[in-house]
Amino acid sequence: MPPPADTPALSMQGVKKRFRAADGRDVEILRGIDLSLPRGAYAVVTGPSGSGKTTFLMVAGLLLPPDAGTFLFDGRDVSTLPDRDRTALRKTAVGTVFQKFCLVPGRSALANVELRFRYLGTPAAEARRKSLAALDRVGLAHKARQPAHLLSAGEMQRVAIARAIAHPPTLLLADEPTGNLDPDTAARTMDLFADLNRAGTTLLLVTHHPAWNAPSSALRLTLRDGTLSP
Ligand SMILES: Nc1ncnc2c1ncn2[C@@H]1O[C@H](COP(=O)(O)OP(=O)(O)OP(=O)(O)O)[C@@H](O)[C@H]1O
Ligand SMILES: [Mg+2]
Repeated sequence: MPPPADTPALSMQGVKKRFRAADGRDVEILRGIDLSLPRGAYAVVTGPSGSGKTTFLMVAGLLLPPDAGTFLFDGRDVSTLPDRDRTALRKTAVGTVFQKFCLVPGRSALANVELRFRYLGTPAAEARRKSLAALDRVGLAHKARQPAHLLSAGEMQRVAIARAIAHPPTLLLADEPTGNLDPDTAARTMDLFADLNRAGTTLLLVTHHPAWNAPSSALRLTLRDGTLSP
């Protein structure tokens, strides 16, 4: 049975994440994240460099398991989900635009976008059609055959965006998604995110730019000292 309509997209209580630093000590990066993100929300996260924004997105996007706390994803407790199940859920529900793009060098822009369909069981022709459409939406249809490592940084960023949206995600995470884009292309990218949000996708965006042209209704969150506050 599907969860009730008012189930939050993400619900976190006391979520912690620590890493082993080079000197062997554990450093707690997320020190108790409390968040209830309604379905269809448009949330913008800011915070100083190194405060843990990317780490937070990795946990929210099911790429990293939390070390402590409760995490419900669309009403389902994923705090202690086995890696395989967490990955399967991520593949179907989450689109991620990584801060460092995470494209496969040597593969074409199109092949990188098609990776979104791996493990989804989408027929190859359909995956290709949707991947080309996604590249077109970010203005890169003409670069489909270009090897990813021969693209400019802004083009790589847009391929990463195309990959994240080619299969419409329930939750779209984007980490500094306009960091390498000129003002016009950045504005078009923000319009694209707004369109996806209006169509029902929950958005969680990280940026250093406080004056980003997010809608006035956007939820604004700050990550500082390992906790998230309005
Ligand atoms: N896998 C890891 N192992 C050890 N330390 C890590 C690991 N990943 C992140 N860290 C550390 O966690 C801290 C937070 O990193 P994170 O990338 O989440 O910050 P951020 O807020 O996204 O920064 P920026 O704004 O510069 O992108 C950093 O000090 C980083 O060195
Ligand atoms: Mg980061």
